[in-house]
Amino acid sequence: MSKIIAANFKMHGDVDFYSSWLKKFELPKQNTVLFAPPYLYFDCFLKDERNLLVMSQDVSDEEIGPFTSQISAKMLNEIGVEFSLIGHSETRDKMGFTNKNVFQKFLSLRANRITPIICVGESKDYRDGGKHFGFLEEQLSFYKAESKTGLIFAYEPVWSIGTGILPKSSEIFEVVEFIKSYFDFKIKVLYGGSVNASNAKDLLRIKNLDGLLVGGASLKAEEFAMIAGS
Ligand code: 13P
Repeated sequence: MSKIIAANFKMHGDVDFYSSWLKKFELPKQNTVLFAPPYLYFDCFLKDERNLLVMSQDVSDEEIGPFTSQISAKMLNEIGVEFSLIGHSETRDKMGFTNKNVFQKFLSLRANRITPIICVGESKDYRDGGKHFGFLEEQLSFYKAESKTGLIFAYEPVWSIGTGILPKSSEIFEVVEFIKSYFDFKIKVLYGGSVNASNAKDLLRIKNLDGLLVGGASLKAEEFAMIAGS
């Protein structure tokens, strides 16, 4: 079945990097592939004649006004962005976004016809203390009463992001099941954290997992093409 495979380039690259990356990247047919470069490089992807799906790495929780540095969901929609990450742990940590802020971003994206991908995931302390389900439940609780269609979560345990430490497949499966059973309607769950071309196939075999969110390994076009074609 078709999966969602998303590249989060974070704050990497420049115009030359993205133009040569796109030349090297072969788009697989079987999966839905999303690309999240920094805002300044959206154009490289939007102009690509393969009709690539562009994803924002974040969005403002405000609609319009005196919010220096912010980009609104309406602006993203206007230029053709169709997806947006929200609540990535790096934005929660560095910018202090709360669950409430993230939910506000979600509402703004929805109102502007952009599909949100809501990042959730526990820190090492919560995992080691066996409190990860409680932590996740708090992050999920905002969406319980929300719209019944099209919710997508990305489970990204903070201890796995950029560390090369991959949870066991059984641990990922357990969380995917936990998130899916929390809602009484159908949702999708992706996994992110130290995904690469060597582990992508096995990860995609995890039952009920709907796709992958890839950080570091997306910077190599050939490697990301292999993951996207898994
Ligand atoms: P890495 O794949 O580099 O671990 O990053 C994961 C991530 O944060 C994707 O959003």
